[in-house]
Amino acid sequence: MANILHVDTSPRGERSISRSLTKEFVSTWLQAHPGDKVTYRDIGHNPIPHVDEAWIAGAFSPPDQRTPELEAALKISDELIDELVAADIYVFGAPMYNFGISSVFKAYVDQVARVGRTFTITQNGFEGLLKNKKALVITARGGSFAQGTPLAQYDFQEPYLRTLFGFIGVTDVNFIHAENLSGDGTREKSLIAAREAIDKLVTTA
Ligand SMILES: Cc1cc2nc3c(=O)[nH]c(=O)nc-3n(C[C@H](O)[C@H](O)[C@H](O)COP(=O)(O)O)c2cc1C
Repeated sequence: MANILHVDTSPRGERSISRSLTKEFVSTWLQAHPGDKVTYRDIGHNPIPHVDEAWIAGAFSPPDQRTPELEAALKISDELIDELVAADIYVFGAPMYNFGISSVFKAYVDQVARVGRTFTITQNGFEGLLKNKKALVITARGGSFAQGTPLAQYDFQEPYLRTLFGFIGVTDVNFIHAENLSGDGTREKSLIAAREAIDKLVTTA
C-alpha cells in the first residue's frame, strides 16, 4: 500500500488541463491500486506564503533555539514537508508560466527545500533527505518545447524541477507534458497523447 501526495498548482479550476490530467492519473492509479491512500493539496487555489525574514531566521536556527515566533514562521513549511516525508509517490500538476513554473509552485518549493529537513550539508556536499520516493509531474503548456526542436532550450520547467527534486533526494521523476494546448488543431491530439502516457505509466509501474 502506497501513500500518494497529489498537488495541483494551477490557479484555474475546471478549465485547467494540468488539474484534469493529475485527477485522471490519480483515479487510474487507484483503479489499479485500490488500497492506496491519497493526500490532496491545492496550492493553486490556496496559495502558501512566501518565505520571509522570520522563516529564514527559523530555518537556519537549531530547533532548540527557535523562539515561538520563529516556530510559527516555519509551521506551514513543517506541514508541507511532513506530507512529502509521509508519501511514497508525488503527483504534481504544473502549468508552464513564462517558460518555468508558476509563482505559487515556486513559493511551495521555497517552503519545502529546507536544511535539516529535506537536505543536509555533508563533507561531500549536499545530500537529499527524501529517500525512496517517486515523482510524476504533469505539465500543461500552450506551446511545445519538445527535445530536438529549437524551442527545447526555453524549457526551464523540467530541468529546474529535476534539479530541485534531485537536490532534496527525489531522483525517480517522470514527466508527462501536455503541449500545444493553445492551438485548436493540436490540443485534442496532445490531450490524447498525455492520457495514453498516463495509462502507460500506471500499467508499467
Ligand atoms: C501567465 C501565463 C504565462 C504563460 N506562459 C507560457 C509559456 O511560457 N509557454 C507556454 O507554452 N505556455 C504558457 N502559458 C500557457 C499555459 O501554460 C497553458 O494555458 C496551460 O494550459 C496552463 O495550465 P492549466 O491549464 O493547468 O491552468 C502561459 C499562461 C499564463 C496564464
